[in-house]
Amino acid sequence: NVLILDFGSQYTQLIARRVRELNIFCEIYPYNHFPEDLSGFKAVILSGSPYSVRANDAPHPNLTHIKGVKPLLAVCYGAQYLAHFGGGEVAPSTIREYGRANLDFIKTDEVLFDGIATGSQVWMSHSDTIKQLPTNGVLLASTKDVTNAAYKIEGENTYAIQFHPEVYHSTDGKQLLENFLLKIAHIEPNFTSTAFVEDCIADLQNQLQDDKVVLGLSGGVDSTVAAVLLHKAIGKNLYCIFVNNGLLRKNEFENVLEQYKHMGLNVKGVDASQRFYEALAGESDPEKKRKIIGRVFIEVFDDEAHQIENVKWLAQGTIYPDVIESVSVKGPSATIKSHHNVGGLPDFMKLKVVEPLRMLFKDEVRRVGKTLDIDDELLGRHPFPGPGLAIRILGDITPEKVQLLQEVDAIFINGLKEHNLYDSVWQAGAILLPVNSVGVMGDERTYEKVVALRSVSSTDGMTADWVHLPYEFLIKISNEIINKVKGVNRVVYDISSKPPATIEWE
Ligand code: XMP
Repeated sequence: NVLILDFGSQYTQLIARRVRELNIFCEIYPYNHFPEDLSGFKAVILSGSPYSVRANDAPHPNLTHIKGVKPLLAVCYGAQYLAHFGGGEVAPSTIREYGRANLDFIKTDEVLFDGIATGSQVWMSHSDTIKQLPTNGVLLASTKDVTNAAYKIEGENTYAIQFHPEVYHSTDGKQLLENFLLKIAHIEPNFTSTAFVEDCIADLQNQLQDDKVVLGLSGGVDSTVAAVLLHKAIGKNLYCIFVNNGLLRKNEFENVLEQYKHMGLNVKGVDASQRFYEALAGESDPEKKRKIIGRVFIEVFDDEAHQIENVKWLAQGTIYPDVIESVSVKGPSATIKSHHNVGGLPDFMKLKVVEPLRMLFKDEVRRVGKTLDIDDELLGRHPFPGPGLAIRILGDITPEKVQLLQEVDAIFINGLKEHNLYDSVWQAGAILLPVNSVGVMGDERTYEKVVALRSVSSTDGMTADWVHLPYEFLIKISNEIINKVKGVNRVVYDISSKPPATIEWE
């Protein structure tokens, strides 16, 4: 188990991902709020930071229980912090140190650089520079512009590097992390999906005993994997509820429900479409639509949960990025759209919360799903927002608009699948615009709806690029939509990236 102390760098989560890729478990804690008892941690990594160590409000945590005690790897800001406090000198650099560089000098016989040759490319991103190493510092590597690119403290397992090993542009970054974790800290790489599944099931059995648990399934990867893990742990004591809010994709409710039953899950499908449509009637404001959907969902879910006698727990598919976000150095980032808050428990549902996936990244959830033999089709599904088509119908919602958009969306998504494009796209969907445009069909003038198609590539939804779908494919889909979906006479393709646009239009 590795502790990563976060100083607020944009790359901290990447460090965790790289460590996990080595099958080593790690946890991120903010520098100003980490556990007192470090006995469970075999090594510590200090992250980068947007701060300068010389600033008064910069992170300056007390490292006396760590430095010289645990194997320590300090990255970027971490390396500067170690220097600053160990009697070295950190100063603003005279030249910009950003981007690719090469390690022109590497000290020979140094374990941290085992298997890494002189000339190795590294990624730099800093504006201060270490002018003088701290007491007992030994220089390990330099680039053309950065003399003190890596150092260690003599007599300790303390290492510091100015570059970012977690970024792919640092070609041997993974090797360096492996050297540190395996050869210096002597950690066993035993964090695999199989091990996770075994431990998780045992922990859940221990925690839940004979208690009943209720879980809301959404058709998405996270809730499905959470359900299967719980099902393996407690069997019939897991009660799943799958709510149709009337805003799902075409035939989604029926198809996914069938799949869940096939997997042996105890699922109750609740068709609450009408209740959602009634609550949404006449509302056009995106945030209000979201709030209404959230509220009605909780009402429906609560009604159903009350019918399960003596239920004690609510299971949620929360994953690690949500957990980190909620305890981050800067606090949860400003709300851009209301879903970005970790959904807590509504007050009136006095259930204890169990979150089997709270320590996993998305790709790890998928791997665990694979270990659990969950169908590839389910695991590879694009993310789909909780409010569903309601935030892809600009303006107010009616069942007719939903049906129209479902048809358009189905043509687009099935087309992506048929043309083997589905898996190369992170998320895709259609948007119903609140405008009519003039067209001509046969001899007749039409005045009908415009739909937009959106497909993006992304890794986590935080940033996204529009996908360059082949023109031939777009031609085909556009024709099919206009020919088959009554009420649509124009199709446009969204060529905006995030930022500044968002993935959804609302
Ligand atoms: P944006 O539009 O913010 O979307 O770029 C980023 C990701 O979040 C999804 N999204 C939502 N998911 N409730 C959700 O559960 C919402 O209200 C919501 N809004 C956006 C969006 O589909 C994309 O994957």
